[in-house]
Amino acid sequence: MFSTLKPVKTDPILGLMAAYSEDRNPHKVDLGVGVYRDEKGHTGILPSVKTAERYRLENETSKTYIGMAGDAGFNQRMAELMLGEDHTVLAAHRLRTVQTPGGTGALRVAAEFIGRCNTHSVIWVSTPTWANHLDLFSAAGMAVRQYPYYDYQNRGLLFDDMMASLKKAGKDDVVLLHACCHNPSGMDLSREQWGQVCDLAKANGFVPMIDMAYQGFGDGLAEDAYGVRLLAENLPELIVCTSCSKNFGLYRERTGACNVIAKDVKSADLVFGALQNTVRGIYSMPPAHGAAIVNTILSSSELTAQWVGELEQMRNRINGLRELIATRLNAAQSLQDFSFIKRQKGMFSFLGITPSQVDALRRDYSIYMIGSSRMNVAGISEENIDYFAAAVAEVLARGEG
Ligand code: LMR
Repeated sequence: MFSTLKPVKTDPILGLMAAYSEDRNPHKVDLGVGVYRDEKGHTGILPSVKTAERYRLENETSKTYIGMAGDAGFNQRMAELMLGEDHTVLAAHRLRTVQTPGGTGALRVAAEFIGRCNTHSVIWVSTPTWANHLDLFSAAGMAVRQYPYYDYQNRGLLFDDMMASLKKAGKDDVVLLHACCHNPSGMDLSREQWGQVCDLAKANGFVPMIDMAYQGFGDGLAEDAYGVRLLAENLPELIVCTSCSKNFGLYRERTGACNVIAKDVKSADLVFGALQNTVRGIYSMPPAHGAAIVNTILSSSELTAQWVGELEQMRNRINGLRELIATRLNAAQSLQDFSFIKRQKGMFSFLGITPSQVDALRRDYSIYMIGSSRMNVAGISEENIDYFAAAVAEVLARGEG
């Protein structure tokens, strides 16, 4: 039976991670997988997380099953983090949350959930989007369509084209949006543009699904949730997939949440049943550790304040690096203007070089980025910026297309 299998293509992000770890060049630079790195290139554990872990080690009393929806305390805290404590949707009890194995788990649960609501549903994703979105939604049986988003020429948004395309999305369709720090382009919608998307969703009846994997990495916790909160306020139905991988640095603990807002309490209860039943059929219930850490942090005002400060430090470093990269790249060469890197948000930007130039950087300098030229800016440091800028300048000067 197994011999009928065809070889699968290497995952563009995780494959690069493996190739980087095998590279013996002491000057190698990892700008591939989206994990935050400090000035030393290390992805450490946040001190607030360490404290919460110690607390848990001493106070956990049982390993018995926790249930399909996961930790109710975590779910409540995540909902408040996403919407703000005073949001009308929380007061109206229209939101249901299930804890999931990471943001990817949340997306998969959401996709299976949509399939239960409508077997013919179509999901619209931005061009480009996180590579795994395409495979994940197809694997869950959804038809995937794409809408224009990033303007590769002008390093901005194709907002008019996006809206023209989304006019075709109707009430059986789901439209995937990135809450902030768009992966892979770093180009986010402005507040005014979120307003226009909201009006279109209201007029045409499509259901937005928002992937919020980077809350706090752009402008701040509340600022990055602007679009989510606006749509939640104004639309009858909304899905939001959240992740604690980046902002709590819990990557391998697989901690996230699938949040669904329904038009009223009755409908929300139906949603909750369907979500839990979906979870039961895939992995029964989520892992406990990461969610317990997050719940411990967010239930303590002291630990929350500490974590908010740690998150701010990561965000400030990323924003500082954006300035540094743009300045040093522009100083090292005059063939391309890299100022746009300063305007974008979060960990990713497209450098805007060709796939063969990306290959050359990897082959000749051991600088790793995704073939699309998506780079993780957090992989840059004061130590490697000159090496990086000189390598990019040299590769651009070769004039390879
Ligand atoms: C990324 O985009 O690099 C991260 O979200 C990690 C992943 O799973 O792809």
